[in-house]
Amino acid sequence: MASRMGLIWCLVIVVALLKCATAQTQIASVEYEVGDSLGWAVPPNTSYYSTWASTKTFYLGDSFLFNWTGNQNVVPVPKPYYDNCTKGYMTMYVSSGVIFTPPSTGTFYYICNIGDNCERGQKVAITILPAVGSPTSSASSLRADAFFAVLSTAVIPFLTLV
Ligand SMILES: *[C@@H]1O[C@H](CO)[C@@H](O)[C@H](O)[C@H]1NC(C)=O
Ligand SMILES: *[C@@H]1O[C@H](CO)[C@@H](O)[C@H](O)[C@H]1NC(C)=O
Ligand SMILES: *[C@@H]1O[C@H](CO)[C@@H](O)[C@H](O)[C@H]1NC(C)=O
Repeated sequence: MASRMGLIWCLVIVVALLKCATAQTQIASVEYEVGDSLGWAVPPNTSYYSTWASTKTFYLGDSFLFNWTGNQNVVPVPKPYYDNCTKGYMTMYVSSGVIFTPPSTGTFYYICNIGDNCERGQKVAITILPAVGSPTSSASSLRADAFFAVLSTAVIPFLTLV
């Protein structure tokens, strides 16, 4: 009986850990479509993409879809190129449907280097914060709470069984 109890407790803990891990990956990543319904295009004004970015909070693990129609591209660039709409940085992404997942926290810059599109506002700066649940995030305490919540709900049915 004692070993059976031990086995049940083991199962409870494994299930709780799995549930916890699953819940966390779901929280951790969001895929954004850059520009929402406009997609990636020459916007109606030069503040369009900075407004788009400023209304959201991006975390490590989030990804960004650049969708466009017609003759556009997306070029990840260093900040000075973004600031000045400087051309000449490596152009690799010329087909719509590009997804970037920034590999670290910090600010990442993307422009379209065709014609004067960048000057007309087709540029975006995306600032990535530490992932929810990482040690530097205040959400790490929530993670422990979630663990105990899952644990208690998982334990009760087993206790009524034994
Ligand atoms: C972006 O691409 C996806 C998948 O192809 C599509 O469902 C969506 O409507 C597109 N959005 C825009 C703005 O083009
Ligand atoms: C820029 O265009 C968007 C979309 O049309 C609009 O919502 C926003 O108010 C405009 N911003 C400025 C500063 O004109
Ligand atoms: C950006 O433009 C400014 C002003 O025109 C210029 O001084 C600077 O050198 C430029 N920087 C780059 C990286 O092109």
